[in-house]
Amino acid sequence: MAAILGGLTSSHIPAVGNAIAKELYEDLYWKPFFSGYPPIREWLGDHKPDVAINIYNDHGLGFFLDKMPTFAIGAAHEYKNEDEGWGIPQLPPFPGDPELSWHIIESMVEQEFDITSCQELAVDHGFVVPMQLFWPGAPNNPDMPRTVPISANTVQHPIPTLKRALDFGKALRRALLSYPDDVKIVVLGTGGLSHQLDGERAGFINKSFDEMCMDKIVTDPEALTKISRMELVEKAGAQGTEFLMWMMMRGALGDQVTPVHSHYHIPISNTGAGTMMLECAA
Ligand code: DHB
Ligand code: FE
Repeated sequence: MAAILGGLTSSHIPAVGNAIAKELYEDLYWKPFFSGYPPIREWLGDHKPDVAINIYNDHGLGFFLDKMPTFAIGAAHEYKNEDEGWGIPQLPPFPGDPELSWHIIESMVEQEFDITSCQELAVDHGFVVPMQLFWPGAPNNPDMPRTVPISANTVQHPIPTLKRALDFGKALRRALLSYPDDVKIVVLGTGGLSHQLDGERAGFINKSFDEMCMDKIVTDPEALTKISRMELVEKAGAQGTEFLMWMMMRGALGDQVTPVHSHYHIPISNTGAGTMMLECAA
């Protein structure tokens, strides 16, 4: 049977992709951010997951404002990355797991989540930058897991509620645990924490709100479902809505989790960057 080992969170800032390309690991600006990752890489090296479910939000590469699925699940053999205009080098395709993808899609629809299935899907910085941070050299890392991308709309309102995101994760957990193959799975929630890239509040970051989210995502994710979408935008910034990805990830981990590692650094580019590794109860 499939086992869910734990969840990983990371920001997915494009500038990080450029810093990786330039190997700025020791640079004074970047070092405090990159220092959040080695303990998680060590854990991944010890546990060697077979599959990474990557929950991210597409920013206009895979989908655009003309067609914006609320929840989309990849079902491809591989996922191409393309130039989005950020100057990040284009990466080779990431390996998929169509059999697991279709199992998840079947199960989610059975559980009354209406999702968009994608037999072709270009994956943007929201997907690839965290992969590079957790598996350096990705996708050409010897431990690179197979991937299933899941994208949720945080770009064009109306976006899902925090409760719906957590419920999606809970349904995803049931889908994964009913997969008959012996695969070890980790679930990524990428994006956030607080940030706003445009308008009057461009550059807005809310450290105390981010810290509260990093605490409650471990101890009481249900409490976070009380936050309305309007309040989330107010407290976390227009792009802080990416916290929905964390809620989806958290729902997939079950009731009890143990934080193996937690790291917060501001600012990186325009964002409060939270990095976490949450291990599931055995
Ligand atoms: C930044 C953050 C994001 O989440 C994103 O998608 C693009 C840019 C930033 O802080 O620069
Ligand atoms: Fe983003």
